[in-house]
Amino acid sequence: MSPKKGILTLSRFMFEQEREFPEATGEFSGLLSDMALAAKVVARSVNKAGLIEVLGFTGDENIFGEEVKKLDIIAFETFIRALDHGGHLCVMASEESDGLIKIPSYHEKGKYVLLFDPLDGSSNIDVNVSIGTIFSMFRRISPDGNDGTLEDCLQPGYKQVGAGYILYGSSTMFVYSTGTGVHGFTFDPSIGEFLLSNEDLKIPERGNMFSMNTGYVNRWSQGIRKYYEYVTTLDAKTKRPYSLRYIGSLVADFHRSLLYGGVFLYPPDAKSPKGKLRLMYEANPLAFLVEQAGGAASDGHTPILQKQPEEIHERTPLYIGSKDEVKLIEEFIQGKR
Ligand code: AHG
Ligand code: MN
Ligand code: MN
Repeated sequence: MSPKKGILTLSRFMFEQEREFPEATGEFSGLLSDMALAAKVVARSVNKAGLIEVLGFTGDENIFGEEVKKLDIIAFETFIRALDHGGHLCVMASEESDGLIKIPSYHEKGKYVLLFDPLDGSSNIDVNVSIGTIFSMFRRISPDGNDGTLEDCLQPGYKQVGAGYILYGSSTMFVYSTGTGVHGFTFDPSIGEFLLSNEDLKIPERGNMFSMNTGYVNRWSQGIRKYYEYVTTLDAKTKRPYSLRYIGSLVADFHRSLLYGGVFLYPPDAKSPKGKLRLMYEANPLAFLVEQAGGAASDGHTPILQKQPEEIHERTPLYIGSKDEVKLIEEFIQGKR
């Protein structure tokens, strides 16, 4: 809890932000409140997921009479249903939809664009490991009033007006920024509210935790292998070896790096020459947050936020976390070490 501000709900905090930062106008509050509502619904499904399995279900129906769907689809449909009628959005795009997601013709078209990964870390759902949702927001560039366009979606990351993630872990957290710092809220199910728990999060300049799937070591480039060799070499002076932490859910691995310091790496490899992670709804939003928190995010050569996207689902290598650690990785990749 933020001592100086007592118990603050997400909506109360956003109200205070509007007063403190004139540029933080209330226009996001409605959109973020809709996101938070969807997050609560998805959190309930995530927490019940195992239960449905245990209690069994008949064919496509569980005993709650609900159609049993993959959690990715439940999350995807929940965010669409919560966001498509608020009048804030003109178009959406998501990992779970090949094309753009139009706002139904009978709903007002808003000024914003939302791109999102409804469920990140899906491979961890069945083993009760933390998973998440990641979202990115732009201001539309096409004329107000009509349907949003592909051009509205394919904007470089530095043009984001907001971004965030929900972490469905031991507790459910809502972490976001609209350009005036990164703020974390923890869900209190007893009152059904997200309460301020981490105000103005800053990532430590350095951290000796690294996060990558070292099983792929023989697929990596020379530069990344040299980095791996460096961080695993014994040298007390530079606090090496680093500790390896890798959960396999980007949101969880990123959240730990944000709080403790350190770096997350998903390099390109023989199997995924452009990397596995998506620029628009995984790398960009987390890069926006980490820069707001004083960290860095790069594809090894270019800051993630400076990349001009060519298509909605394009992939990118991702090195993200403490500034000094990302710089060190770039030096190895660029052959400077
Ligand atoms: P998603 O579930 O949205 O497809 O994302 C999974 C991603 C990311 O969460 C994680 O960092 C990465 O996949 C793990 O990939 P590997 O299993 O190849 O390590
Ligand atoms: Mn993902
Ligand atoms: Mn996903």
